Amino acid sequence: MKQFYDYYNNLVKLSFADHPFSRDPKHVWVICRYEGKWLLTEHKERGREFPGGKVEDGEQAFEAAIREVKEETGAVVDQLRYLGQYHVDGKGGTIIKNVYFAEIARIEKEDHYFETNGPVLLDHLPDALNKRKGYSFMMKDEVLPACLERIETAL
Ligand code: GTP
Repeated sequence: MKQFYDYYNNLVKLSFADHPFSRDPKHVWVICRYEGKWLLTEHKERGREFPGGKVEDGEQAFEAAIREVKEETGAVVDQLRYLGQYHVDGKGGTIIKNVYFAEIARIEKEDHYFETNGPVLLDHLPDALNKRKGYSFMMKDEVLPACLERIETAL
């Protein structure tokens, strides 16, 4: 388990074990790959980030992951793999989030993308993301680099 502080100085615990903090997490985050590129979304307030969001009532976390990717980018998930889970002690309470790695089958054009401006495809993720304007706070702590390393080594 890794522990560190996020962009807002909240304590984050990250683990690649099987659901270490909750069997029933209420949040999901999905690192997406499409045709050799990273697929992000552009959140209207937070900026660029991998898609994700809240698990709805009656939904499983993996179903929320597939739904959020479609809503925020128009992308259809081909293969979804559980990567790990993180726990944030936020000012407003505790957040537990599943992280997935998704291979995308295709991207469909949508009329609207909920709270985002839709898909963003990148050949490379920029260096020093924590100093980049235009990127979401979610991309600016150690969760992303640790998950990318995990994708490289374990998947
Ligand atoms: P809405 O109900 O969607 O408006 O959400 P909210 O802004 O209250 O968000 P949410 O419940 O998703 O998150 C509450 C707080 O938890 C955020 O303000 C962050 O401090 C923290 N948080 C949520 N997601 C993440 C994340 O992926 N990484 C980190 N480090 N913190 C997060």
